[in-house]
Amino acid sequence: MDLKIEKVKESRIKEVDFSKLSFGRTFADHMFICEYKDGKWQNPTIKPYGALSLEPSASVFHYGQAVFEGMKAYKDDNGHVFLFRPQENYKRINKSCERLAMPAFPEEWFDKALRTLVDIDSEWIKPGFGNALYLRPFVIATTPGVQASPAKDYLFIIITAPVQSYYSGDVRVKIADYYSRAANGGFGFAKAAGNYAGQFYPTQQAAAEGYQQVMWTDDATHQYLEEAGTMNLWFRLGDTLVTCPTSERILDGVTRKSIIAVAEKLGIKTEIRPVKVTELIEAAENGTLKEAFGCGTAAVISPISAFGYKGKDYEINRPAELYTDKIKETILNIQYNRSEDPFGWRVQVK
Ligand code: COI
Repeated sequence: MDLKIEKVKESRIKEVDFSKLSFGRTFADHMFICEYKDGKWQNPTIKPYGALSLEPSASVFHYGQAVFEGMKAYKDDNGHVFLFRPQENYKRINKSCERLAMPAFPEEWFDKALRTLVDIDSEWIKPGFGNALYLRPFVIATTPGVQASPAKDYLFIIITAPVQSYYSGDVRVKIADYYSRAANGGFGFAKAAGNYAGQFYPTQQAAAEGYQQVMWTDDATHQYLEEAGTMNLWFRLGDTLVTCPTSERILDGVTRKSIIAVAEKLGIKTEIRPVKVTELIEAAENGTLKEAFGCGTAAVISPISAFGYKGKDYEINRPAELYTDKIKETILNIQYNRSEDPFGWRVQVK
């Protein structure tokens, strides 16, 4: 890839208070942008972060051909920078593209673009657990015209944002009993913009009732738990850690699959199986539901303190020693280069 690099004249970093970041609202100096036209990806460029110019008829605005990824770059205490399992995000963005009839992006380009961009803006990454540079690769359809058919032109862009944690404390979630996030044969497994847009209205309603997220259930029966919008779900039932299986309706989270491996290494019994809403309620009532948490790149691991179902709230009475803490610490230690990486997940930038 012949990557063109145009740097900012002066960095904006001095204007940023890194102790008061609001997730995803401040962006680093540069972005990567690459065009798809005439059947191929071309003009890969790193340039100052800034506005795009698109025709109002660009198909992304009308038919929603838009997919994205969420990743992070971490800095250790010696200033070395790492990515976490970037290949998984590469594979997933192309899976998402395929489902939305969008062209795949070449792996070597993805890798070089990410590494170069992160390296150029590495001052924006602060060391310490929780601090990271959030990386947001995304693809949008830009062909002008309102025919409802796949576009011929696309942009692949990576923007980056210095962040701290997505949720600041425990979260309360509401179990969906009417709305659905995804359906069989749909594109719930894809990280497509539309999957998020469809959640906003039910999530707003849940927020008005005091919950931060909706815990989605299967669209056919609303009896089985699936995922929570920005996170996959985990429950500690007795001393077994349970997560729902992925499916064509559920996002196959990188943090989720990392937890499956970490839990096994820590000797925690894990089950991947369907979890019924009634099982969760019963476990909350009889005290066998000892922990629940959501996981994702942005959220990392967010403890769930309570859930609501059909107007009733169930608090989760957690023991002093939490699986949540052990797992989170193990994953953070790997991400921030504070421990061995027995899985080979860490990828040093440069
Ligand atoms: C992530 O965890 O990276 C996500 O993409 C969730 C996002 C909607 C904040």
